[in-house]
Amino acid sequence: MAKILVTGGAGYIGSHTCVELLNAGHEVIVFDNLSNSSEEALRRVQKLTNKSLVFVQGDIRNQSELDLVFQDHKIDAVIHFAGLKAVGESQQIPLTYFDHNITGSIQLIKAMEKASVFTLVFSSSATVYGEHSSSPYKEDFPLSMPNNNYGYTKLVIEQMLEKAAQADVRWSIALLRYFNPVGAHKSGEIGEDPQGTPNNLMPYVTQVAVGRREKLSIFGHDYPTKDGTCERDFIHVVDLAKAHVFAVINRLKQTGCRAWNIGTGMPISVLQIKETFEKVNGVEIPTIFVERRAGDLAAFYADATRAEQELGWKPQYSLEDMLADSWNWQKQNPNGYN
Ligand code: NAD
Ligand code: WQD
Repeated sequence: MAKILVTGGAGYIGSHTCVELLNAGHEVIVFDNLSNSSEEALRRVQKLTNKSLVFVQGDIRNQSELDLVFQDHKIDAVIHFAGLKAVGESQQIPLTYFDHNITGSIQLIKAMEKASVFTLVFSSSATVYGEHSSSPYKEDFPLSMPNNNYGYTKLVIEQMLEKAAQADVRWSIALLRYFNPVGAHKSGEIGEDPQGTPNNLMPYVTQVAVGRREKLSIFGHDYPTKDGTCERDFIHVVDLAKAHVFAVINRLKQTGCRAWNIGTGMPISVLQIKETFEKVNGVEIPTIFVERRAGDLAAFYADATRAEQELGWKPQYSLEDMLADSWNWQKQNPNGYN
């Protein structure tokens, strides 16, 4: 069993990963500045698992705060979620995104080197493939410049980590390229709690369902897809969380830097999300079709076979589970953690 530092562990994916790590018997230290999360999520993680974790409030851009964590705890591996993730916002305030995501990751890598901790799992994104290939995306496809500053930070960090691992063989790094995480823990105790207007489809749908928003706008219905709306690879957040546990185990045994797609490999359309959500949950989602959103690709899904072959990880949850669990969380927590 390992002692794992989880940066951004109070957030959406981080909190679900803490549950899986604790359930698998690992010790967890969460480091988070709570800029986009609530300590309540961590209280619930501990309640759900009946295990305790250590919480340190701090910012990954602050080297001395990080150094202190590594001095106080004998960390075996780091899972690095902390960062900013809103695509639209990253176009308005690029330098803030570069600072949190890129500078923050550099500070973390430096603190790890200082403490001789060389095992890292990084939250990357399928956005690093850019727009120049086509689905299903494989890990050895060429990467290209994403069309937004958030995606650019993920590409830069991936490349930095690759180069660090080339220069020093002690590094063991997993780049997990998530597709579209949705869903929530079965209990409905933890889930996605975006601040302000949601950027992503699923929290928008659940907020319409719970009455916080009037209707869903579907961006474009003339794409070359089966029903004209965009297709994405939605992955249940608990499956995604479990992939991190598999990746840590793999990285504690091997060195080098390796990328894995984390998706189901199944293209699901936006309209299918709306209709299946209504069917599974018995709730109507008033919807209008509007113009395409700039920057959206028609279809974006993974070839997820490498993760199965090399990590032994395979998604377990169906689309119906994703939609039922998203709704269960939102229904029980109409205003999120507030
Ligand atoms: P989230 O915002 O819920 O979690 C991020 C956490 O990091 C939050 O708790 C926030 O308070 C913390 N944080 C932000 N800046 C920090 C800093 N400077 N120092 C310390 N803590 C800081 O987001 P999430 O959806 O859980 O995403 C987790 C990671 O996965 C992010 O790196 C994100 O880019 C990546 N990712 C997310 C998605 C997605 O669709 N949710 C897809 C691909 C990749
Ligand atoms: C999904 C589909 C929209 C909202 C983003 C990031 C990506 C990754 C995951 C972090 C699209 C449509 C959406 C709405 C809609 N994040 N939609 N109405 O754009 O696939 O990926 O999140 O790494 O980098 O770009 O996800 O949830 O925003 O959109 O019709 O109100 O839903 O057009 O086709 P996306 P999304």
